[in-house]
Amino acid sequence: MIGGNWTADADGVPSGALRACLEDAVAAPSVHNTQPWRFRVCGGTIEVFADRGRRLDVLDPNGRELYISLGAAVFNLRAAMLARGRVPVLRLLPEPSEPDLVARVTVGPATRPPATAIMLADAIPRRHTNRQPFTDIPVPEEALTDLTVAADTERARLVITDPAARDAVLDVVRIAEQRRRHDPAYWRELSEWTRPGVERRDGVPPEAFGPWDALEVVPIRDFSVVRPARRRKPVPFERAPTIAVLYTRGDTPDEWLRGGQALQRVLLTATVRGLASTIMTQPVEVPHLRALLQDASDGYAAQAVLRFGYGPFSAASARRPLEEVLVTAGGTKVPD
Ligand SMILES: Cc1cc2nc3c(=O)[nH]c(=O)nc-3n(C[C@H](O)[C@H](O)[C@H](O)COP(=O)(O)O)c2cc1C
Repeated sequence: MIGGNWTADADGVPSGALRACLEDAVAAPSVHNTQPWRFRVCGGTIEVFADRGRRLDVLDPNGRELYISLGAAVFNLRAAMLARGRVPVLRLLPEPSEPDLVARVTVGPATRPPATAIMLADAIPRRHTNRQPFTDIPVPEEALTDLTVAADTERARLVITDPAARDAVLDVVRIAEQRRRHDPAYWRELSEWTRPGVERRDGVPPEAFGPWDALEVVPIRDFSVVRPARRRKPVPFERAPTIAVLYTRGDTPDEWLRGGQALQRVLLTATVRGLASTIMTQPVEVPHLRALLQDASDGYAAQAVLRFGYGPFSAASARRPLEEVLVTAGGTKVPD
């Protein structure tokens, strides 16, 4: 066991810095806020497991978005550890015989935390998916460069679209979104993950649905389609949205985990820059529409369409408490 504040007890119940890192991990974005993760702490290592019971069978039959969500949580763990002065040692899919064990993040040597890690970790609780209209103020070039560098750093690629490509990408998002609105299986699944409940700590709550761009220039996923009482109100959105597409080098589980880390580094970098962001994955969930986003010649695979800009405050969506996601020897209870 690693000393100082980096401890878990014999049952694997963490305290101090290790616990703080796990609190940051669960703040990661996840598709429909499914939070498809579990964590086990063994000495100075955090093991990250896929919780496949939380996979979206209709929207995500291959678990691609489940892995992306897990990758985002892994990135938060890394950033949180580094910002607290320990080098995170990461192994993705460390046991081929145990596919649900998606990552091991070990507390490595002490280090002076880099300024970037501190800024990214500080941004974790401030990052929320923002489905509100953004202003027409353009995003500065330097900020866009920061976002593309963030994706590169994680071995992924972020393409910021020019106006012609932007319109084409938004057309594809719109077609995907409209198709889904006529798919009863999709509705049933969406209904599960938008069911309101005072006690509910997962799923997308009505406060996060956002309004409706009646012209559908910005075709944000309509979470209210199965909740007529919470129909989105029409309001004008920005006329020239800033749209990017995130690609990974391949389309396998380890690339999805890398893609999730890249996604989260990009989103946190945007937060540091004062930018709001929206994830739009509707077209990536329909194979023939996803193909329209790819350049078949280089093998890169589209994983998400992202929107950036300056927006009003957007509320946090709830997370399940650590005791629900922590695998411990003596049960699942974590002390307060
Ligand atoms: C892989 C993935 C796909 C997502 N797809 C969408 C989407 O298509 N539309 C959307 O509005 N939000 C999307 N989200 C955002 C989630 O709904 C959001 O992360 C979750 O509800 C938690 O809220 P938060 O990001 O504000 O913490 C996606 C997130 C992930 C990780």
